[in-house]
Amino acid sequence: MKIENYIRDIQGFPKEGILFKDITPLLNDPIARQECLSVLVNSLKDQKIDKVVGAESRGFFFGILLAQELNAGFIPVRKPKKLPYETIAASYELEYGTDSLEMHTDAIKKGDRILIHDDVLATGGTAKAVCELVERLGGEIVQCNFLMELSFLNGREKINEYPIFSAITY
Ligand code: PRP
Ligand code: MG
Repeated sequence: MKIENYIRDIQGFPKEGILFKDITPLLNDPIARQECLSVLVNSLKDQKIDKVVGAESRGFFFGILLAQELNAGFIPVRKPKKLPYETIAASYELEYGTDSLEMHTDAIKKGDRILIHDDVLATGGTAKAVCELVERLGGEIVQCNFLMELSFLNGREKINEYPIFSAITY
C-alpha cells in the first residue's frame, strides 16, 4: 500500500501554474487512511503526547485521528475570529500580505507535550505560526508532522529547531 497513490495531482488549482496535491482520495479510503495514520503514529516511537494541535482546515482531518489514536487532547488552531473564547494570535506571511492563526489561551498548560499536525509543509509559514502559539502558552513541541512536505519550498528551515516528520516528501 503506497500512500502516494491516494494523493492526486490537480494541475492549475487554485490558480494557473500551481500543482495542487489533493488528499481527498486518501480521506475517502479507510485502509489507506489507517495506513497513513499508522505511519504518523509510528514516527513518534512511543513518545507520550498530551495534546495534538491541528491547523485549520486540512490539519483537522488527521489531527483528530491522531489525537484519538494517541489518547490525547485535540486543539484546533483557527483562522481569525472563529474561536469563541479568549485567544492568542500569531501572524504569518502569504504570497501577498499576511494572515494570522488563533488558539484558545486555556488550550495548553505549561509543560504539555504537544504534537503539531498539518496536511502540508510548504513554505513553513503556517507551521511556524502554530509553533509560536504553542510555545507562548508553554507547550513543549515533541514533533511537527505532516502528510506531505514540498521540500523544494524549504519550509523545514523555518521550523528546524523542532523534530519534523513527513509521511511523503516531494
Ligand atoms: C495550506 C495547507 C497548509 C499550508 C501550508 O493551508 O493546508 O496548512 O497551506 O503552507 P505553508 O507551509 O506555506 O504555510 P491553507 O492556508 O491553504 O488553508 P486550508 O488548510 O484551510 O485549505
Ligand atoms: Mg492548511
